Amino acid sequence: MKHLLSERDLNRAQFDYLVERARTLKKWFREKREYKPLKGKVLGMIFEKASTRTRLSFEVAMIQMGGNAIYMNSRDTQMGRGESIADTARVMSRYLDAIMIRTFAQEIIEEFARHATIPVINGLTDLLHPCQVLSDVFTIVEKKGSYEKLKLAFIGDGNNVANSWLNVATILPIHVRIACPQGYEPDQEIFRRAQREAIEGIVLCRDPKEAVQDVDVIYTDVWTSMGKEEEYEKRIQVFQSYQVNSKLLTYASRDVMIMHCLPAHRGEEITSDVLDGRHSVVLDQAENRLHMQKAILEMLLTEDNL
Ligand code: CP
Ligand code: NVA
Repeated sequence: MKHLLSERDLNRAQFDYLVERARTLKKWFREKREYKPLKGKVLGMIFEKASTRTRLSFEVAMIQMGGNAIYMNSRDTQMGRGESIADTARVMSRYLDAIMIRTFAQEIIEEFARHATIPVINGLTDLLHPCQVLSDVFTIVEKKGSYEKLKLAFIGDGNNVANSWLNVATILPIHVRIACPQGYEPDQEIFRRAQREAIEGIVLCRDPKEAVQDVDVIYTDVWTSMGKEEEYEKRIQVFQSYQVNSKLLTYASRDVMIMHCLPAHRGEEITSDVLDGRHSVVLDQAENRLHMQKAILEMLLTEDNL
């Protein structure tokens, strides 16, 4: 793997490797064992959107593994004044060992990667959030023992995280059901490909009650993703019946696991009692971002990677 732009840059063996590696790195972290394979390496991080978890987990991962990370707000770089993506990628490749980018269009990171001579990592685009679902698969394996034949219902907006889960369904035997309002479906191309290639199938439905039946995991995310803020009022209306609340949970199995990539908008896509309740694993999900970022960075930045 040269870059991590999409889940589909990974095959199943690499997915499994990263999950196992994250588990080992988490164990070493708990044991306070020093492990610094990235001594002298520098990760650049370009953010065109806000972030708490992605920024911190990448930065802490680099520091704990002996390297450094540099945060760049794209507005403060020459990119924000019109320097081309190609030139920026070529120049940054002369200073840095890898670059993580959080931006709007997926095409931006794809173009960046075409011109960079260092690994490029997708830290979220409007289309995908691969680092998130990779660490979520790790959380699922940690909690449930395996992802084999797992059923996951994604309730709400057919956004970047939903698209990423559809991609995961084409690589791992995880059945994905999406329940979203009309007009808020996942990306059409990703959806069609998942229809053809998903190992355990995918389903799109309108009724969240139907979607959560017999699933192992209920996953939700904000109704208004970054960049869509001007649609906020409309979305609040459209998504009303897609809230993950205790009533919806009565239609799910008793041991269903609740996941959310965070940040959550309490009282919108999920109620506080569910987010903080016994089914929720959201804080472990957030922590696991750190361990998975380490596994990803190690894979991309050390020579003996897969
Ligand atoms: N889940 C996630 O990517 O969070 P941040 O937006 O805080 O990075
Ligand atoms: N779908 C959300 C995820 C945030 C981590 C967004 O794009 O804003």
